Amino acid sequence: MKTETAREALRTTAIRSVIAGYGGYLPERVVTNAELSTRIDTSDEWIVERTGIRERRIAREGELASDLGAAAARAALADAGIAPEEVDGIVLATSTPDQTYPATAVRVQAKLGIHRGFAFDVAAVCTGFIYALSVADAMIRAGHGRCVLVVGTEVNSRILDWSDRGTCVLFGDGAGAVVLRAAEGVAGGAGPGVLSTHLHADGAHADILYVDGGPGSTGTAGHVRMHGREVFRHAVAKLSAVVDEALAANGLDHGAVDWLVPHQANLRIIEAMAKKLHLPIERVVVTVDRHANTSAASIPLALAEAHGDGRLRPGQLVLMEAIGGGLTWGAALVRL
Ligand code: UT7
Repeated sequence: MKTETAREALRTTAIRSVIAGYGGYLPERVVTNAELSTRIDTSDEWIVERTGIRERRIAREGELASDLGAAAARAALADAGIAPEEVDGIVLATSTPDQTYPATAVRVQAKLGIHRGFAFDVAAVCTGFIYALSVADAMIRAGHGRCVLVVGTEVNSRILDWSDRGTCVLFGDGAGAVVLRAAEGVAGGAGPGVLSTHLHADGAHADILYVDGGPGSTGTAGHVRMHGREVFRHAVAKLSAVVDEALAANGLDHGAVDWLVPHQANLRIIEAMAKKLHLPIERVVVTVDRHANTSAASIPLALAEAHGDGRLRPGQLVLMEAIGGGLTWGAALVRL
C-alpha cells in the first residue's frame, strides 16, 4: 500500500521524463538464414515459419557492446540536438558487457567524451531496456539529473553456441538508445512523457533461459541455453498480464494505444500480443525479420526505426513490453 502511494505520488509529480531523441546502430555484416543453413542443420523455411526471422546482423571481430552502444547514443543525441556535455547520466542495459567490470556504461561514456554524471549497467536480459528506462525515469523524477541516456546494446553473437540450432538462429547484434529529458508541468495522461513502467521478475524460472558462463564479450563467456517452448509459454501469459497492468494503471483501454513496440524475439509472440490488444499488425513495430532477437537492444532499435521513417508522431501513445532471462518481464507506456 505504502509503495503504491509512493508510486502514485511520483507519477503525478510535476516532473516527467520525455523522450527527446532516438538512435540505433546495426553492425554491417548481414547473416541470412540461408548462410546459417550451410553451417548447421536448419533451413530458411523452419526459421521463418517458427520465428519470422530472415536475417540478423553480426558484429565484426573486436567490435564491442560499448562500440555499438556509443554509436546508437551518438545518433540519439544528434536526433535530440543535445551535446554530450549536457548528459547527466547513462543507464545501459546489456547481457554482453565488454568486460566483467567496469560497467559498459562507463566505456560508452568515455567514447562519447563525457566526464561527469553517473553511468552504470542494468542486467535484466531481454527486459533490460524496460528496466533501464524505468530506472532512468525514476532518477530524473527524483532529481538525479535532467538529461539521461538510456542505451540497450548487445553482441549476442559472442555468447551463442553456433552448433546449437535451437538458439543460434534466434539472436543478433545491435544497439539502440533514447535521450530522456526532464520536462515540467506535463502531468496527466495527455502530456508527453513516460506515463508508467511495470517491472517483474521470478527467479524460480532462472534455469529455462541462461548463460552457462560469466559475462564479458571480449573473451569466451559461456553460451546461451534455452528451453524455447517453456519460455514461449511464459511469454504469452506474462506479457498479456503486464500490458493489462500498464493500461489499467493509467485508466486506459487498448484502443488508446497508437503503437505497440514489443521486444523482438519471435513474430508468433508479437502477433499474439497484437491480437490480444486488438491492434492490426500495421500498428506494431516489427524488426525481428531483419534484426532477429537483439535482447536489450530490440525495443530502442525498433523505436529508432519507427521514429526515423516518420511512423512515430508527437502525442501518440506507445506501449512497450518485453520478457527475457530471469525470468524478467515488464511494460512501459509512453506518450510521445
Ligand atoms: O528473448 C527472450 C525470450 N525468448 C523467447 O521468447 C523465445 C521463445 N521461444 C520460441 O520462440 C520458440 O520456442 C522457438 C523459436 C525457440 C522454437 O520454436 P518451437 O515451435 O517451440 O519449436 P521446438 O523447440 O518445439 O522444436 C520443434 C522441432 C524440434 O524437433 P523435434 O524434437 O520435434 O524433432 C527441434 O529439434 O524443431 C527442431 N528445431 C529446429 N529445426 C530446424 C529446433 N531448432 C531448429 C532449427 N532448424 N533452427
